[in-house]
Amino acid sequence: MNDGKIFRLGILGSGKGSNFAAIADAIAAGSLPATVAVVISDVRDAGILDLARQRGIPTRFIEPGLFRTKLDDTAESAYVSALNEAQVDCILLAGFMRILKGAFLREFDGRVVNIHPSLLPSFPGLNAWKQALNYGVKVTGCTVHLVDQGVDTGPILGQSAVPVLDRDTHDSLHARIQVAERKLYPEIVARLARNEIEVKGRMARDR
Ligand code: GRF
Repeated sequence: MNDGKIFRLGILGSGKGSNFAAIADAIAAGSLPATVAVVISDVRDAGILDLARQRGIPTRFIEPGLFRTKLDDTAESAYVSALNEAQVDCILLAGFMRILKGAFLREFDGRVVNIHPSLLPSFPGLNAWKQALNYGVKVTGCTVHLVDQGVDTGPILGQSAVPVLDRDTHDSLHARIQVAERKLYPEIVARLARNEIEVKGRMARDR
């Protein structure tokens, strides 16, 4: 993904933005050779936009349109245009609560990355930490993966395991997974920025 020029990230989020903050902090600390070109949210007052503004990073709120779980066609083209205007090399989903498909994924094929709070392919979809606790697994974690047309099904770029403790509640387990996310996501994005990962079909390997 990189030919020596600075690796430009577009970040999409709907929530508080702790993963975005971890990415921005890793860039500031010099461990992630990239720049955040734009942060875009479908939620006007999302915390992620405040965190980006505090860091002087360009932000956009873009209306998601008619649907609750995806972008409508007008919104999808607005998102595509904003990301292209920002000349992004890679799009990071950081708590973006809408499914992306069709034209968006064709435009940015193989360049959209997500972090999911379970060890995929276990527990895809919403509230994965609740699914894991309710199922009774003893280990869960988080997964960084490329986004494809399915829900949480794309090639896996990296994973981190988190123990499930007997005393865990949904909240305590989610908090421990988020600590692991904030370490894993910047590490994997740094490897992408350094062009260290090769993806062939489902398989992501060291280049
Ligand atoms: C994270 O837990 C991530 O796994 C999921 O959405 C959450 C976003 O949290 N995809 P934040 O907005 O990054 O704090």
